[in-house]
Amino acid sequence: MTEFFFQKEVAEKYEAYNDILEQLLGYQFVFSHFDKDERQTILDFGCGPGKIATRFAELFSATVIAVDQSAEMIQLASKKHNHKNVHYRLVKDPKLAFLDDNSIDGAFSCFVFITIGDEAVLNDILREVYRVLKPGAPFVLLDTNPNSTGHVFSTCRIGEKGKTYKRGDIIQKELRWGGNQLLIEDYHWPEKTYETWLVNNGFIEIETQQPTLQNVANKTIRRVEDEYGLKWKDEKTVPPFILFKGIKG
Ligand SMILES: C[S@@+](CC[C@H](N)C(=O)[O-])C[C@H]1O[C@@H](n2cnc3c(N)ncnc32)[C@H](O)[C@@H]1O
Repeated sequence: MTEFFFQKEVAEKYEAYNDILEQLLGYQFVFSHFDKDERQTILDFGCGPGKIATRFAELFSATVIAVDQSAEMIQLASKKHNHKNVHYRLVKDPKLAFLDDNSIDGAFSCFVFITIGDEAVLNDILREVYRVLKPGAPFVLLDTNPNSTGHVFSTCRIGEKGKTYKRGDIIQKELRWGGNQLLIEDYHWPEKTYETWLVNNGFIEIETQQPTLQNVANKTIRRVEDEYGLKWKDEKTVPPFILFKGIKG
């Protein structure tokens, strides 16, 4: 599925998707693990069209190094989400050879691991992220929640209802917005698998979060309802996304 995001049409659709649910129950929780006041250099691994990197740069006094292996994504990001403090880079293999060991203050990776079916590649990414982070720096990983398969949310669906998924199985995710749809073939990685990968690659103090609407202030929920006319579904009680935080030991 990795090369799926090399397609121009896919990159454009992914950029156009209204990720308000991801903002509400995912990205804002990722951001909460970083320090707003410190002038930092942060890595966004698998930045896609750059929406998260630019939002981060707008909120934090940080320089963001945003990397992706899709040339279409990097082109789109540079065109649509250009920001003076965000530096986009095309990467391969996955290697971050242009970054020194122990040089980065923090890193995040959103909805990237779920798109990769090869555990060797996932471990390569973690090893490389670990290498470039400063000791004590956080890495936050956000993905579709493997505990919420078969559920339907206001803007997305994760897998098929009633179907059981095993480690590494393909799982279809549907994104919906304003009459549009994008079907993505992701991979099913159980919660424990992520923890094992992180620990095996040297990360310590692993924390997990699985937010639902119950973790969001009522006034924020009302604002989103008014602004986007969303009809809440399973996200009231079921977490569509999962976050893992690890520290470079
Ligand atoms: C679903 S998109 C998520 C984009 C962005 N993080 C977001 O949350 O909007 C996944 C991105 O990960 C990138 N990706 C997947 N495997 C990668 C790898 N090995 N190295 C770099 N980027 C990768 C894809 O090209 C794609 O742009």
